[in-house]
Amino acid sequence: MSAAVARPGSISTAGQHANDEFIACWNDVLTPKWLRFRHLLSGQGKVHGDVAMPLLDVRPGQRVLDVACGFGESSIEIGQLVGPRGGVLGLDCTRAFLEIAEREREQAGLENVRYELGDAESHPLPPARFDLVFSRFGVMFFRSAVRALRGVHRALVPGGAVGLLVWRRLEDNPAWGIAKQVALEHLPAPQEASRTCGPGPFSWADEDTDRRMLHAAGFGRIDVFERIDRDICVGRTIEEALDYQVLVGPAGEIVREAGEEGTRRLPAIRAELAELFRPHLRADGVYLPSSTWIIVARK
Ligand SMILES: C[S@@+](CC[C@H](N)C(=O)[O-])C[C@H]1O[C@@H](n2cnc3c(N)ncnc32)[C@H](O)[C@@H]1O
Repeated sequence: MSAAVARPGSISTAGQHANDEFIACWNDVLTPKWLRFRHLLSGQGKVHGDVAMPLLDVRPGQRVLDVACGFGESSIEIGQLVGPRGGVLGLDCTRAFLEIAEREREQAGLENVRYELGDAESHPLPPARFDLVFSRFGVMFFRSAVRALRGVHRALVPGGAVGLLVWRRLEDNPAWGIAKQVALEHLPAPQEASRTCGPGPFSWADEDTDRRMLHAAGFGRIDVFERIDRDICVGRTIEEALDYQVLVGPAGEIVREAGEEGTRRLPAIRAELAELFRPHLRADGVYLPSSTWIIVARK
């Protein structure tokens, strides 16, 4: 196992572009929301990640890159699968997430996982180093996913695989779509970003576009392109589900973009949404259907 992959301890910062507006947004604007709702975001990642993981075929001894690893949950899981002869490098652009990831790695006693702070599009990755690259809900947020995937392609050994877990269309994700629809009944739609490109949670929803992006990045062979449908928890209580939707989900963007009118309409949006969520309340929270793609492509 190369030391370049598996030296745990402090977080390396090579390649970090501190002035990039997207990276600044993750570090300044999104971090507090992500910390507040980590239990929901991580729970959702786990529900879909548990289905995706066996399709990645992780083996002992492998060298794995976890791109946009966030709190490092999948890095730790993969670290346990590859064992002491293998290693995991978790890469993310948000310092606060990696500090938590590093603390939890230490608590888990895993010596074969380490983290680097950097932009997935420009981070200097060693060529032909990794057997597998995984990204759980990461690639959708890159300004140019193709640029990042070209770097991933270079960093993979010949025959190595990249596994991507991404949200499918909003229409197939009532967990996000219901709140957006309610918000749109009260407020105008914000200026839509392009359906197929540009960062955002649903930018990898379209299968044809995904296949084209992977081909453009050099991945000639796609082994797995499968849909995963699971109910996910969007709040332990109705109140928390409402907070979550208007702070983190697409409904939040509509409310924010509408300015004062958004603030004025918020109580009505929350009241309507609470009624719609009530039938989905189980003993431990509000559960709604969600849908992802797991994609595995090979170099
Ligand atoms: C939805 S979170 C997913 C985190 C983690 N993979 C998980 O499943 O819990 C998206 C992650 O992408 C990271 N990210 C966004 N743009 C990035 C970039 N250009 N380079 C590296 N990480 C990025 C964010 O910091 C955040 O941790």
